[in-house]
Amino acid sequence: MLSSNDIRAKFLEFFKAKGHEVVPSASLVPKADPTLLFTSAGMNQFKDQFLGHNVTYARVCSSQKCLRTADLDRVGTTPSHHTFFEMLGNFSFGDYFKKEAILWAWEFLTETLGLKRAKLWVSVYKEDKESYGIWRDLVKVPAGKIKKIGAKENFWPSNAPKDGPNGPCGPCSEIFYDTGGGKSVEVWNLVFTQFERIDGGKLSPLPNKNIDTGMGLERITAIMQGVKTNFETDLFKPIIDEIKVYRPSLKAKDLNTIADHIRAVTFAISDNVAPSNEERGYVIRKLIRRAYLRGGGKEPFLYCIVPKVVGIMKDSYPGLLPKREEIVLIVKEEEERFGNTLSAALPLLEEGLRSAKSKVLKGDKIFKLADTYGLPLEVIEERAKKKKVRPDIAGYIKLMKEQRARSRKKSKLEKGVFCGLSEETPETAKNHTATHLLQAALRRVLGEHVHQAGSLVTPDRLRFDFTHVRKLTERELEKVELLVNECIKNSIPVTKEEKTLDEAKKEGAIALFDEKYQKMVTVVTAGDFSKEVCGGIHIDNTKDIEFFKIVRESSVASGVRRIEVVTAGRAREWMEESKKRKAKNEKLEKKKEEEKAFEKEKLKAAFGNLDLLIKKAEVKNGVKIIIEKVPGANMGILRNLADKIKAAEKNSFVMLAADDGGKVSLVLTLAKGLVSGGANASEEIKSLAKIIHGSGGGRADFAQAGGKDASKLEVALLAAKKMASHIIEGVSK
Ligand code: ALA
Repeated sequence: MLSSNDIRAKFLEFFKAKGHEVVPSASLVPKADPTLLFTSAGMNQFKDQFLGHNVTYARVCSSQKCLRTADLDRVGTTPSHHTFFEMLGNFSFGDYFKKEAILWAWEFLTETLGLKRAKLWVSVYKEDKESYGIWRDLVKVPAGKIKKIGAKENFWPSNAPKDGPNGPCGPCSEIFYDTGGGKSVEVWNLVFTQFERIDGGKLSPLPNKNIDTGMGLERITAIMQGVKTNFETDLFKPIIDEIKVYRPSLKAKDLNTIADHIRAVTFAISDNVAPSNEERGYVIRKLIRRAYLRGGGKEPFLYCIVPKVVGIMKDSYPGLLPKREEIVLIVKEEEERFGNTLSAALPLLEEGLRSAKSKVLKGDKIFKLADTYGLPLEVIEERAKKKKVRPDIAGYIKLMKEQRARSRKKSKLEKGVFCGLSEETPETAKNHTATHLLQAALRRVLGEHVHQAGSLVTPDRLRFDFTHVRKLTERELEKVELLVNECIKNSIPVTKEEKTLDEAKKEGAIALFDEKYQKMVTVVTAGDFSKEVCGGIHIDNTKDIEFFKIVRESSVASGVRRIEVVTAGRAREWMEESKKRKAKNEKLEKKKEEEKAFEKEKLKAAFGNLDLLIKKAEVKNGVKIIIEKVPGANMGILRNLADKIKAAEKNSFVMLAADDGGKVSLVLTLAKGLVSGGANASEEIKSLAKIIHGSGGGRADFAQAGGKDASKLEVALLAAKKMASHIIEGVSK
């Protein structure tokens, strides 16, 4: 039985023998193509060549990693839908056309792979008489097995003349395999790329006629291995077996979905797409969350499956293995994060569902759960359904749209161009070169796993997002700064050279995207410190950056850190300001310290003078009357002091007061003899408290009070004196 690796290899060998150059898969992140979120077909990397530009080889073939999300909801429930899949393709740029493409596809299927002719049937675009003729007269497919179909099925991209997008397109012919029971599976799509669609749906003939074909490796493998679904092939089976180790009781559809998603996630992260809340990163976040929930939603396990995926695919995609640990860490961290989200949000959701009025969960509640807590809408919908509550999705969408409009306004100001420049000024060029130095320094300090995940360069500052799992330590940040500032001090010339990407990579240049290796690129070099493929504007010498200062390090998403930097004049300004800030803080600190020391002195004096205090106190009928203001004390100190006085002088009336920054505290203690004679400190202090606009209470021998009016403190002290005489006299009588 042929393995998937055999089939992939046979395909590439077959077309190599027909004069095709074997080209490596491009990254899942399409290069400079704003119409695409992810690479979704083998032809994406050849858009230029279809338009007649940069054609180095007229015939190429590839096995391209692809990611599509259009069928997300069907994944796992049908035999052959996926997010991530591999597309085998052969391409002609102005070289061979329909006849060869059709004859070779047939030859590969029936001779190389040995499929029975009787099991195959084909479709053509209803107006494409040429293709129809080739199938009927040259291949000898019976007329009854050639179906004529419209532009929705048999034009690529689907319905392109009517719906777009603009770009290369053409009629297509598809080959189907009869899987029995009246069912067929589409195996191979042959596209005759002969038009460029332009605005208004006009089809303008391309200078050359081209061929673009695509055969899903998973489907052809399922046919060749005689299994009913793609999930039973050697591409998926080992992954599903691995998932079963961690989740033995899952149903097939959940196992399939998890296996599909973890392949997509593994490949996307290896192409530097980390989970986040934006665009590509959000797709990956969503896939991890879906898979996590399918796995029971209790604890991380997906990260354990990553090594299996890498193991199966590493020979065909050499970029995977060096990234294995990084992918594992990123997936694990994302799972943990989501696990925390669930444990915080699910109880709130349950409460919301329990208390839902007239069985409707309101839009604002959904918005809060989804937006603030990050709970996926599908979880909310699923739980609501179980509890027979209707979620007000329309209300939620309205709130979400309002929020989007608000943040769009904001991001217009904040958004820069990916590895590009928002304004081209000398300052921007400085910051752009500094970004290259920063990336090189980060790779030296943290390791080669550091890859750019986003970048913003403005005249004022630079922001660089990169893959790294942990917060950077002070020491690491210092090292990075030091390395870059060394480079600046050493006045290294910044040079630009045109070469092929292949050459650039061989020299160790950092390249953001996988491109066609023969394509010419610009390599920007700063000595032996930094070498990067980049088309932007740079300064001529590192010394122009003058100074490099990291002002912030933070997290943007799991596995992605952000560093913000200022350079040159801005860096000097920043240092000045930070010096001023530091000086100001130090001054304040010093003042606080001095005040504290002063208060301490005063207290020390108060405690030290206890003897004197007692000695100089007035005595009435044998009772010492001590009424004092204690500067710098608070309630705790007053109590402490009062206790000490009472211990030294049992027969006493002690009333202490403190003015603690506007707040007045009073403490009153009475000797045993006074209490047994009928006096009550708790009652007495209440009248004093009134004077200072406060309240108080306590026991008969001890009470305390607090008040707000410090200006009345002297009055209260006078009142206390009268009170003392009154009490002592009353008791003596
Ligand atoms: N580009 C064609 C497809 O994706 C071959 O189906």
